Amino acid sequence: MKFFIDTANLAEIREAQELGVLDGVTTNPSLMAKEGITGKANILHHYKAICDLVDGDVSAEVIGVTLHDMIREGEELAELDDKIVVKVPMIKEGVKALKYFSEKGIKTNCTLIFSAGQALLAAKAGATYVSPFVGRLDDISTDGIALIEQIVTIYRNYNYETEVLAASVRHPMHIIQCAEIGADVMTGPLSAITALLNHPLTDSGLAKFLADHQKAGAK
Ligand code: G3P
Repeated sequence: MKFFIDTANLAEIREAQELGVLDGVTTNPSLMAKEGITGKANILHHYKAICDLVDGDVSAEVIGVTLHDMIREGEELAELDDKIVVKVPMIKEGVKALKYFSEKGIKTNCTLIFSAGQALLAAKAGATYVSPFVGRLDDISTDGIALIEQIVTIYRNYNYETEVLAASVRHPMHIIQCAEIGADVMTGPLSAITALLNHPLTDSGLAKFLADHQKAGAK
C-alpha cells in the first residue's frame, strides 16, 4: 500500500520523506489555507516546492467548479511538474473534467467521494485515483472503511485501473484496516503514520536490551 501524507506543511512532508516511507502528497484548499498560502502565484510556488521535496505524486486541487475553469486551472497545475495530479471534485462538471484530463494524459484524483456509485462514475471517466473520505463518514456514524472495501471489490470485478486512495484517514487503525482490505493508497496526517511505530513492548524490550548490555560491560 502506498503512503501519501495529507498536508501542505513542508516540514511535515520533509519529515515523512526522511523516514523513507513516503510515496506522495495530497493537499486540499483547506490544508493550503491552514499554511497561510493564498494568491495564485504563492499557491503555484508552494505546489512546486512540495514537488521538489518528494518522490511521488502530488495532488493539487482546482478551485473552479465549471468545466472551463477546472480545465484551465488543471492544465496550469499539470504544467508545473510531472508529479502533479489534478484533484477534481465529484460533481457533474468534475466527471467531464476527469474524462478530458484522462484523454490528455493528465493524472487526476477525484475527491469528495462518499459513495460507491460516485467511485464507479469516476473510474469510468478515467480518474487515476479516487478519494473516498473515511474519517468524515465515520464522523456521521457511517462505516468509512466499509466504503473502501466496496469500492475495492467493484474495481477488482472490472479491472479498473483507477487506484483507491483512502482519504481522511485519521489514525493508525484506519491505516491498518485500509491495508487489510487492499486499498491501493492511504493519505493521512504525519501523526497517523508515525503512530504505527509505537508499541510499549518495543520500548521496554529495547530498554532491557540496553541495560543488560551496560551491565555485561561493567563486569
Ligand atoms: O484528503 C482529504 C482529507 O484532507 C480530508 O481529511 O481529516 O479533513 O476529513 P479530513
